[in-house]
Parts: sequence; structure tokens; C-alpha cells
Amino acid sequence: MPQQKLLSGSPIGIFDSGIGGLTVLKAVQATLPSERLIYFGDTARVPYGTKSQVTIRKYAREDTELLMKHQPKLIIVACNTISALALEVVEQTAGDIPVIGVLKAGAELAAQRTKSGRIGVIGTQATIGSNAYTCAIRAENDALEVFPKACPLFVPLAEEGFIDHPATRLVAEEYLAELLGQKIDTLVLGCTHYPILRKVIESIGGPQITIIDSAEAVAEKAGELLSKSDLLNQSSEKVLPHLMVSDLPQKFRELYRLFMGTELPDVELVGV
Ligand code: DGL
Repeated sequence: MPQQKLLSGSPIGIFDSGIGGLTVLKAVQATLPSERLIYFGDTARVPYGTKSQVTIRKYAREDTELLMKHQPKLIIVACNTISALALEVVEQTAGDIPVIGVLKAGAELAAQRTKSGRIGVIGTQATIGSNAYTCAIRAENDALEVFPKACPLFVPLAEEGFIDHPATRLVAEEYLAELLGQKIDTLVLGCTHYPILRKVIESIGGPQITIIDSAEAVAEKAGELLSKSDLLNQSSEKVLPHLMVSDLPQKFRELYRLFMGTELPDVELVGV
């Protein structure tokens, strides 16, 4: 198990299978603007959510090893699929480095926000099949009712940049009909790609549905954890995040510009 001295000036490592984790990067940047951030999107192997647990765990280990080369002080798993099926693989690989996953943060927030106790969860096939959200929400309060639904077409639609597109609307109407029929009052976006399609999802759900995006909850948790361990970066210098992908850096640059609407950092192509 790697031993590493954690330093306040070290970066926070964030990773996902592709662009979805940018929704988490954005929230962490907003909450902790002084921190150095390193992001890895495994664009060569996305999607993870349609793959087996064995494959997802292998990818999770390799992605973590890649981030570890940058000696992070914290790793944020900005992927629900890995958080659901391979969080302990990331923790084992990270050794002494603390790890935060998006799933628990989303489950806690949903349990706090629901009024009727009827919560819908949408995610990849792997996340929904793992039952991890239902378990995490019911661990908060076992009187809550959870209605899960896999929405596998949302990831390619987001990766394609179909943010507010008729095709996205059609697919979303089909996926959400069943959940809306269950009279849910809260809907967890249980995949970090889905906030990219939030506008369409929200308009179909209507104003009576509270949407849960775990990105902000995770960013807050990261701040609390670093503050408790006296690891917040004291420098006031703002640096652009260091972005890494395993394929198609140019496509990633275009999507980054579309979603983040901020200055564009360089994107490094890396092998995993
Ligand atoms: N963004 C990811 C998640 O939160 C995974 C998407 C995928 O690779 O299938 O689950």
C-alpha cells in the first residue's frame, strides 16, 4: 500500500469514464477555487456503465494508479458507476490518500430533501443493477421508497453534446414516464453525465420534482475533509485544472468549452 505525505499544495485528483465528471470538477472549482485540480476522463474506454463489474474494477484500479502519479492529497470518484461497483478498489489502490465517491453524497442529499419519501434514481445499467443507491438511501432512512431506472442512452447523448436536442427529449420522456407514474417527488441524477442533460430532464419532471445532483454535495464534503485535516491550499493563486484523457483530446476540448464555458486549459493525452 503506497505511503505518501499529504501536502496542502498537492492537487485534488478527480476522475470519470469521460466528460461526466466535469460536472463535479465545476462544482469543486466553485467551492474550492484555490485548489489545484487534476482531472482524468477515460475517453478511450467510455462507457463504463454497460460493462461487467470485473471490467469496471480493473478500469477503476488503472485510473487511480494514473492519478496517484500526480501525488494527490484527495481523490474524488466523479463516476457513480465506479462509486457503486468499485469504490473499495479505488480506496485500496489509493492507500493513505482519502477517497470520496459521488454516490453516498447523492444518497444523503436525496434522503434529506424528499418530503413524500418517494425517490426516483436514474443511472447507468451497472449502477442501477448494483442496487447501491437503494441501499445507500435506505441506510439513511429505511422508510424511504426508492424507484430505480437505468437510462443507458443518456451517456452517449451527453458525450455527443445533445444537451437540449429533440432526440434527448424523446428518450428522456420514454425513460422518465415510469418514474413519474410512481409519484416521486425527488429524482437523483445517479450518473455524472446526466446533469449535462438536466434542462431536458427537469422540464419533463416538472416543478414538483426536486432534482439531486451530487456534484455540489461532493465538493462540500471535499472542503470539509481537507479543512479537518488542515490540507486546504493556502495559496490565493488561481490555476487552471490539469486535464488528461485517454483518447480524442480535441473532442474533449470542444465539449469542455460547451459545458464549462470557461477558459480552456490544455488537454494531455495519456495511456492507461
Ligand atoms: N459518468 C459515469 C457515472 O456517473 C459513467 C458513465 C459511463 O461511463 O457509463 O456513472
